Amino acid sequence: MLPARAQFPEGFLFGTATSAYQIEGHAFGGAGRTHWDDFADTPGNVVRAETGARACDHYHRWPQDLDLIAGANLDAYRFSASWARVLPEGRGTPNPEGLDFYDRLVDGMVERGLKPALTLYHWELPSALADLGGWRNRDIAGWFADYTEVLMRRIGDRIWSAAPINEPWCVGWLSHFMGIHAPGLRDIRATARAMHHVLLAHGRAIEVMRGLGHRNLGAVCNLEWADPVDDSPEAEAAAARYDAIYNRWFLGAIFRKEYPALALEGLEPHMPPGWQDDMDLIGTPVDWCGLNYYTRKNLAPAPGPWPQYAEIDGPLPKTQMGWEIYPEGLEKFLLRTQAEYSRGLPIYITENGMASAEVPVVDGMVDDPERIDYLSQHLAAVQRAIAQGANVQGYFCWSMLDNYEWSLGYEKRFGLVHVDFDSLKRTPKSSYLALARALARNG
Ligand code: FCB
Repeated sequence: MLPARAQFPEGFLFGTATSAYQIEGHAFGGAGRTHWDDFADTPGNVVRAETGARACDHYHRWPQDLDLIAGANLDAYRFSASWARVLPEGRGTPNPEGLDFYDRLVDGMVERGLKPALTLYHWELPSALADLGGWRNRDIAGWFADYTEVLMRRIGDRIWSAAPINEPWCVGWLSHFMGIHAPGLRDIRATARAMHHVLLAHGRAIEVMRGLGHRNLGAVCNLEWADPVDDSPEAEAAAARYDAIYNRWFLGAIFRKEYPALALEGLEPHMPPGWQDDMDLIGTPVDWCGLNYYTRKNLAPAPGPWPQYAEIDGPLPKTQMGWEIYPEGLEKFLLRTQAEYSRGLPIYITENGMASAEVPVVDGMVDDPERIDYLSQHLAAVQRAIAQGANVQGYFCWSMLDNYEWSLGYEKRFGLVHVDFDSLKRTPKSSYLALARALARNG
């Protein structure tokens, strides 16, 4: 059963999260082409070559979607804006329709009493900037700062919180080393540059927003607990390398102005010249720390070039993604992040949730007891961390709607609300109804 609102500290925020490309329908409203369109149009990259062209048609159906969010008794809505919708070429002339859309959307949140929690970049890089090298090109920090300014000048007055980049690990490592997300590279030099430039862009955007007078600015990193597959020193070293690359690189740079030695070991030879001089800007103070958490990994040593680890299938129950369910990792991360990185700043869980296979809508109902269970277990982990002194101030469930799960297309369903991708009809799942009951403000 989901814990009730009253079982959390006074003022604890509950929200849900989505992202632009995953729900809006990027073919609508004059948005520019993005590297996700290019990636998906290349055979073999995305399941059934699905794209975000129509997605959930949130571009037209947003009033209904905001009603659903408010109807779940949530306090905040974490959404993202698409760079290519605001600036179709990534730079230059803004798209008035795009700015009008985000203006209406934010007004819609405010009217419904929802706090707008904005992410400026959730992965849909304008293709025109990808042509110039995308995250490999140092100039991206300036392009991103300019986009930040255009958007914040228009909607910043009503924004409750803003974070520049969603999950820099995905932008850097997943997209340039593992080749799983756009632009689909597998290149260590590109990776080192992307992993540094994404942080530089973060720093520049924070600087721009401070300059405009905005407050409540944060950073959102995704974390995966790294366990050695056995108690050999080699497995421990493999897990420590994974942890350094995945979890410590970004938090280390933002909160300590340093990269972990175990990651630099492989990446330093490929870093852009003069990277050390950027660390001060990257570490520009933020007001809160956002953590996205889903699972853990089990690591074994592996032969071959650095980083010499392999992910081993684990024994715990798994979600539709094949991800092990491991709420203890969230508790441990909340405590470790506070002790070593955020040092007392508010921490928000900016994403947590699970995918489950589609179950048919029967009599207007979709039953997803496994999601209620997953959320309950993770909220209990949050309560334990709070009891041990972690300054956790809010929790956002990923996601409001079933949506475009990137290279896995529309098959992996993370929503509290079911979406029929033919009719686009929304049906609240039983997890949505359980959450609405748990969060009712009259107790
Ligand atoms: C996170 C992403 C989000 C979604 C969930 C499942 O890494 O931020 O867009 O794909 O995972």
